[in-house]
Amino acid sequence: MNPIELSSQLRKPTGEAGKEIGKALNESNRGLYELAFEMMSLQKDDRVLEIGFGSGMHFPEYFRLQPRLTVTGIDFSKDMCEEAKAHNAELIASNKLSLHCEETSALPFSDNRFDLAVALNVIYFLDPPGVHLKEIHRVLKPGGMLLIGYRPRHTVEHLPFTKQNFILYEPDELKVLLSKNGLEATKEITRSHEKTSVDGVEVTVTDACLLVKKG
Ligand SMILES: C[S@@+](CC[C@H](N)C(=O)[O-])C[C@H]1O[C@@H](n2cnc3c(N)ncnc32)[C@H](O)[C@@H]1O
Repeated sequence: MNPIELSSQLRKPTGEAGKEIGKALNESNRGLYELAFEMMSLQKDDRVLEIGFGSGMHFPEYFRLQPRLTVTGIDFSKDMCEEAKAHNAELIASNKLSLHCEETSALPFSDNRFDLAVALNVIYFLDPPGVHLKEIHRVLKPGGMLLIGYRPRHTVEHLPFTKQNFILYEPDELKVLLSKNGLEATKEITRSHEKTSVDGVEVTVTDACLLVKKG
């Protein structure tokens, strides 16, 4: 797959190629999810919203950490929604998980609903970011948290597939953007490791997670 196609598939996985990308992301983003799960302190009866869940193979991990949760997912890729529904049929049938195939610019949820929103490898595609962040802010409870997982700009800007579709951020830029949208940084962790990227190249990956709070 050429870098332009890869970039557009990463933004919105579509068709058979998109399903393959979803599987590859599940492998290649494992470290970022592990870091994110370490940073969440899930409480009994929390309502969690995950934005851009991809193939959704990680959803059972939420319930391993805290069995009494309700998790809602939203992703605008029809193919990812189908994949995630197929992988999580039991959680959906038991009303622990509900999945929505929609856009984050108009979230189909009431105000002040969620304790935690999670968005891993999604911030790059929120354009313009303020429209989407305003919606995320609206659906979080006062004091609710947003956990953003991403790769800082200097660590990925040399990769050809990030040259289009992606808006890249350095940690300080991201914090300023979030603060302008009523979300204040409370914690951040950055970790680097070696891996094979989705286009088969050996790279050093820097996983960054930033936890921000609705005031
Ligand atoms: C790069 S994938 C990341 C998937 C997964 N979170 C991971 O880290 O492996 C980005 C996901 O976000 C979804 N997405 C991107 N922009 C979106 C938007 N505006 N609304 C809803 N979903 C979006 C895409 O469909 C895709 O499944």
